[in-house]
Amino acid sequence: MARIRVIFESGEPERVIEFDPARAPFQHDGKPGSILDVLLAHGIALEHACGGNCACTTCHVIIKGGGEKLSPSDDSEDDLLDKAPGLTPTSRLGCQAVVEDPDAEIVVLVPRYTINQISGHGG
Ligand code: FES
Repeated sequence: MARIRVIFESGEPERVIEFDPARAPFQHDGKPGSILDVLLAHGIALEHACGGNCACTTCHVIIKGGGEKLSPSDDSEDDLLDKAPGLTPTSRLGCQAVVEDPDAEIVVLVPRYTINQISGHGG
């Protein structure tokens, strides 16, 4: 099983998600097996204004560990990331970064503004 540990800049309790990448897609937004795909399927409302089509920056996440286990970014992702608020050297678009390794251990930081405030607000 692959594992994603999700840390929230907003201070919400972290989550650990275990899943089998071979079973992707898990829902209908983003690349199959992408961080967006996995998080949405596990009740984490990562923003995805363009529907996971690599056309916005709302799904921006920061990879804190295991980044080498993700699919590499392409030019269109890199171009968009250049415009993402709070860009870091390990930033990715959640809808484009696919977990391919069945034993991957990924640590993802979700920036504060990346969570949908309506469904994600926990006080
Ligand atoms: S949801 Fe728009 S680029 Fe990922």
